[in-house]
Amino acid sequence: MKDATTVYPVQENIRKRWSPRSFANKPVDQEILNQVFEAASWAASAMNEQPWRYIYAHRSDEETFQKLVDCLLPGNQPWAKNAPVLILSLAKTHYDNGTPNGAALHDVGMANANLITEATALDLYGHFMGGFDRAKTTEVFQLPEGLQPVVIIALGYMGEAELLEEPFLSREKAPRARKHHADIAFNQHLPA
Ligand SMILES: Cc1cc2nc3c(=O)[nH]c(=O)nc-3n(C[C@H](O)[C@H](O)[C@H](O)COP(=O)(O)O)c2cc1C
Repeated sequence: MKDATTVYPVQENIRKRWSPRSFANKPVDQEILNQVFEAASWAASAMNEQPWRYIYAHRSDEETFQKLVDCLLPGNQPWAKNAPVLILSLAKTHYDNGTPNGAALHDVGMANANLITEATALDLYGHFMGGFDRAKTTEVFQLPEGLQPVVIIALGYMGEAELLEEPFLSREKAPRARKHHADIAFNQHLPA
């Protein structure tokens, strides 16, 4: 566990969440996964449009799981292929009347934040990956027009860091760091 060192006492599951690359060889029960997706579904969204969609595969769903691995960029494949679950997060980019939904990506991020917070409460860890081939993903999963791939999420129980090879081992052990709250939030106006 790589607990965050915070200035203020933020909620435990926010502190506890981090992005590992080593996962235990333990499957995620389907009921647990359903719970995590239900948490995602309770996110706020513009017009209650709920523009999030997910395609997921357990490692035992060999064919689809391998398709997801193949969509990842080479820097993510060596460790993500050992995750028990891979989840492709998608955004429905337009309302049903054809108007673009300018909040779609925002709202998918909201749902993914819920997903990962619920997962953390269940002792699961997730690693979001923007490093994947979007054109290939669209083709491989035959995504219809208007469904945009956002991230692929590796999800599972935490494994031993020592299972990783370099450069991933060092990254797994590196301390976590964040900008100070005073450097991201400004009362009344941005600094001069
Ligand atoms: C949209 C998004 C894309 C990311 N893409 C990758 C990726 O392709 N590969 C990777 O190893 N980590 C990726 N990350 C993980 C970030 O590097 C990580 O969240 C960040 O360094 C903060 O670390 P923490 O999540 O452990 O707090 C991504 C995270 C997000 C939210």
